[in-house]
Amino acid sequence: MADYIYTMETRLTPDQLKAVTLVQDIARAHGMNLYLTGGAIRDILTGFPIRDLDFTVQGNALKLQKDLEKAGAKVDSVDEHFRSLHFVLPGNVRAELSMARAETYDKPGKPPQIEPATINEDLRRRDFTINAMALSLNEGSRGLLADPFNGSADIETKVVRILHNYAFLEEPSRLIRATRFCSRFHWELEERTKARFEAAKEGNYIEYISRAAIGYEIEQVAHEEDPLNIVRALEKEGWLKILHPHWSTAKIDTAELQEMMKTRQQMYDIGMTVDAAPAVMYLMTSKLADKDTLEIQRLIPHKEFVAAWKRLEDEAKDLAKQLQSKESNQPSGAWKILTESKPEALLFLDMTVRNKSVEEKIKSFFGKWRQMKEKLPFIEMAELLITPQIPEYAKLVHELHMQLIDGKLRNHTEIMKFLKPFAPPPPPPPPPPPAKRGKGAKAAEAAAKAKKGKEAVAPPPQPAKVEPEAVKKKEVAKKVEKAEKKPAAKAAAPAHPAHKAEAKHAAKAPVKHEGKAAAKKPVAKAPAKKAAPKPAPKKPVTKKPAPKKPAPKKPAAKPAKKKK
Ligand code: CTP
Repeated sequence: MADYIYTMETRLTPDQLKAVTLVQDIARAHGMNLYLTGGAIRDILTGFPIRDLDFTVQGNALKLQKDLEKAGAKVDSVDEHFRSLHFVLPGNVRAELSMARAETYDKPGKPPQIEPATINEDLRRRDFTINAMALSLNEGSRGLLADPFNGSADIETKVVRILHNYAFLEEPSRLIRATRFCSRFHWELEERTKARFEAAKEGNYIEYISRAAIGYEIEQVAHEEDPLNIVRALEKEGWLKILHPHWSTAKIDTAELQEMMKTRQQMYDIGMTVDAAPAVMYLMTSKLADKDTLEIQRLIPHKEFVAAWKRLEDEAKDLAKQLQSKESNQPSGAWKILTESKPEALLFLDMTVRNKSVEEKIKSFFGKWRQMKEKLPFIEMAELLITPQIPEYAKLVHELHMQLIDGKLRNHTEIMKFLKPFAPPPPPPPPPPPAKRGKGAKAAEAAAKAKKGKEAVAPPPQPAKVEPEAVKKKEVAKKVEKAEKKPAAKAAAPAHPAHKAEAKHAAKAPVKHEGKAAAKKPVAKAPAKKAAPKPAPKKPVTKKPAPKKPAPKKPAAKPAKKKK
């Protein structure tokens, strides 16, 4: 059996995945069976972007509202009739949770009679086979796909098929939905569905569409990836004027809409999650009379969506003001404001901005300032051991980037000068393998090494390791240490003053706190860790401050070379 959980986990965004886990845990806590249903399953199987998550519970979905809100969900509409909730979760994840229900239609377009049902009955009341699948999120059956109408086969053949002959008559908004899905996916209506569709058009079934369905479908257009394409298809079928009698593509600011979709893509590409739908609505209605726009706003059932659309102008004005403030004089200041701004406000401002300097800042934010990040010398940073493993790495990279966009670091030499003080000390070499031979041999070997005055880097850890065995050989061990201390200090010393010298440069560098950081970190602490700690528990450390003396001599030459 196909592992649909795996498919789901690979297709959902991290935020959507978190949302699934959250809803799943809450439903479990309430002892209700939960399924991921509708468009989410279709999109998981097709590979198209997953726009929103539709959940179905066997039980009253409204009982989960409080726990969802406690977990951070913003519930923006509650439908008491269908017992369903629409909410937004962190990361702009739109979701709907509905009670599994069976529907009976008395009159076309009128809300159906509903009653609680099993998931299989619920799938039977849906619009198209491609939307009538459910993925179990329950213990024991998690990952099982219910597909009673073989929607997955229709996905493969790329057709939109109704579930029964009365589908369009019962719910005329399915005519609009059929057009929307065919246009979005570039699929066809299945042959018999097409015949029913044409018959429904001829019979003017659409006149039975409910106000609620109109409002719902208007909003759905705004959430489309390519709303213009959808609106054109709706207009061609005659559905746009059903959504609003004065609406036509001529009332849409198409040029601006196309531009905005490019910016939205740019924002996605750089990892900014933006909900473009409110701005899409703004542009799709921008040439309509205010009265008509107000009517459309009243029709839309999700009030939070309408509020977000109405807020756009004010939010963009606020952002523009911030971008003209003193704080944004330096590029790094403007960068901070823009990265912390609401992506929706930024998207809208980018489209409506009139002020030249604000426009320039937004342009640089998307363009040249961002590209400067690519100039960071990651290879040299790795050579300096400045890697993501060091705790302050992200902060350092950010600071470096900010200094670059502010023009404070103008070339490679200045960048390296800035970076060097942050280089951590090199790691100690691995200890030699434990000695295996007899005690006498070990002692002799150690003594021989000490005499030779071998490089002292490796040995310090050794006495500590062999110590249990060498208790009786304290004398030898002491000798080893004494012999090793000098070279060890030598080995460590070059790094020490070199850093010191770099720290001085850094202290002169334009950004004050970088200088401070440089002075603090590597100079005082790093070498101390290297040279002193290993032998520290032993007496000689206090006895022998001597190794520090020769250190300044050699390194004095090194930084001087580097400077040039
Ligand atoms: N549905 C339906 N009839 C409608 C509206 C919705 O049967 N008139 C069912 C479908 O199963 C649909 C699900 O409810 O898949 C969720 O509806 P919606 O979110 O509007 O559609 P999606 O299929 O998720 O499509 P989209 O990608 O446009 O969100």
